[in-house]
Amino acid sequence: MKTMDAIMTRRSIRAFENTPVSEEQIKTLLEAAMNAPSAGDGRPWRFVVTTDRAKLDALADAVDEGNAMFKQAQAAILICLDESLEGFKGFGPQDCSCAAQNLQLAAHELGLGTVWIAIINVPPRVAGCRKVLGVSENLIPFALFPLGVPGEQLEPEFRYDESRVQRV
Ligand SMILES: Cc1cc2nc3c(=O)[nH]c(=O)nc-3n(C[C@H](O)[C@H](O)[C@H](O)COP(=O)(O)O)c2cc1C
Repeated sequence: MKTMDAIMTRRSIRAFENTPVSEEQIKTLLEAAMNAPSAGDGRPWRFVVTTDRAKLDALADAVDEGNAMFKQAQAAILICLDESLEGFKGFGPQDCSCAAQNLQLAAHELGLGTVWIAIINVPPRVAGCRKVLGVSENLIPFALFPLGVPGEQLEPEFRYDESRVQRV
């Protein structure tokens, strides 16, 4: 898939088929995420990966009010921020966002669906991730990505808006 095709056709997927996500696919997603740019090349990210059914089910209640998509997801990757690794102080969330978007686009290319679930700055979700996935206190849960073969097909959206552009 060409880069622009991936960017222009990716959608957030919140329903998944009962088909496993392989270790090889997960490795590819992690490779894509870790190839992201980061301020000062600090790479202040950490990844918590699970394919454990009980943990995925528990995430539904702990993070998203019982959201059924976690009960359908076959894997999940939590991106965490390790502030001690920031190349420049305060840039970690931007670095983790770059990793997150790489992960989403790579998933799309692999034929997997995912959606960015906001965790950082949402205290009950941070606590839920720590409890279910055993995230240590020195890491800040940043964003969670349930994964699976898409159980819904969403049309691409074209969102270009000239009014958001200032030509000077
Ligand atoms: C920073 C960020 C936080 C998001 N948090 C959530 C979330 O908590 N739950 C959710 O269902 N979708 C979440 N999303 C997905 C957005 O709702 C989605 O990207 C947006 O509606 C556009 O749809 P699309 O991704 O299909 O293009 C988040 C997206 C971003 C970038």
